Amino acid sequence: MNILITGSNGQLGNEMRVLSASYPKHRYFFTDIAELDITDPKAVHTFVAENAIDLIVNCAAYTNVDKAEEDEVNAMRINADALAVLGSQGVRVIHISTDYVFSGEEHTPCRETDPIAPHTIYGITKYEGEKRLLASCPEAVILRTAWLYSSFGNNFVKTMMRLGKERNELKVVFDQVGTPTYAADLAQAVFTVIETPMWHPGIYHFTNEGVCSWYDFTIAILALAGITDCKVSPILSEEYAYKTPRPHYSVLDKSKFKKTFNVSIPYWLDGLRRCMEILKNEN
Ligand SMILES: NC(=O)c1ccc[n+]([C@@H]2O[C@H](COP(=O)([O-])OP(=O)(O)OC[C@H]3O[C@@H](n4cnc5c(N)ncnc54)[C@H](OP(=O)(O)O)[C@@H]3O)[C@@H](O)[C@H]2O)c1
Repeated sequence: MNILITGSNGQLGNEMRVLSASYPKHRYFFTDIAELDITDPKAVHTFVAENAIDLIVNCAAYTNVDKAEEDEVNAMRINADALAVLGSQGVRVIHISTDYVFSGEEHTPCRETDPIAPHTIYGITKYEGEKRLLASCPEAVILRTAWLYSSFGNNFVKTMMRLGKERNELKVVFDQVGTPTYAADLAQAVFTVIETPMWHPGIYHFTNEGVCSWYDFTIAILALAGITDCKVSPILSEEYAYKTPRPHYSVLDKSKFKKTFNVSIPYWLDGLRRCMEILKNEN
């Protein structure tokens, strides 16, 4: 297959590039906004036609949750309008969405069929993108994920490693729980979808296994980084000056993905260990 990967300079896009070496039978076209702006219908159409693309993996997105609150037009353009463009090329699409489509007030892991209630502009635009993609491409596969990190790009893991070295104490919220998800494992999930002989369209939830708070996550990051002289203290969300409200409960039920594709998913701490090995070797 000729596979177009958009947004390939991001966390997931870079992990897709790394993992693509294990699947050399396909031809890959890694693009980011400089090579292919997904909001440009003409450019997308030309690229897909000229390169005989069979499948689009959309890793591009407007991911800055706080900035999106003041920049709704652009967030909507990239996270929603562009999905109608990608979905109308006559080829299959694998797209990534988010736990932010839910209210974050649940108490049990969210299923694909649970009520949608985004509380942020980011969440609203991502949900709109899901709808526009499915309307234009009923064959699409959408993987909703959460708490993504990678050795590429900026993310919570790298920030905490840096702050842990700079400061004596870090105060981190313990009343928001979710599942840290290694983008390399999400990339593997994308390849699982691609390589499964039968195509199973629809919405799926995919994160690593398990649950923790940002506080627990930070303790694990510092321990694996060998940072011992920084105290980590738990605080409530109300003690932290969030610009945009954050979900208290971001746990996704992955049963549908595991059953459909017959796979098991690594535990979050296992993913973190693998990522930290790479980060430690880089420093
Ligand atoms: N990060 C998380 O915690 C998280 C959680 C749940 C779901 N997700 C979803 O997972 C997916 C991957 O996230 P990620 O963390 O890998 O994102 P990321 O690191 O922010 O990467 C997104 C990439 O898309 C590029 N891009 C933006 N606008 C574009 C356009 N118009 N055309 C082409 N490329 C464009 C970005 O470029 P610039 O950097 O120059 O803008 C960036 O390189 C996204 O759909 C995101 O919504 C992420």
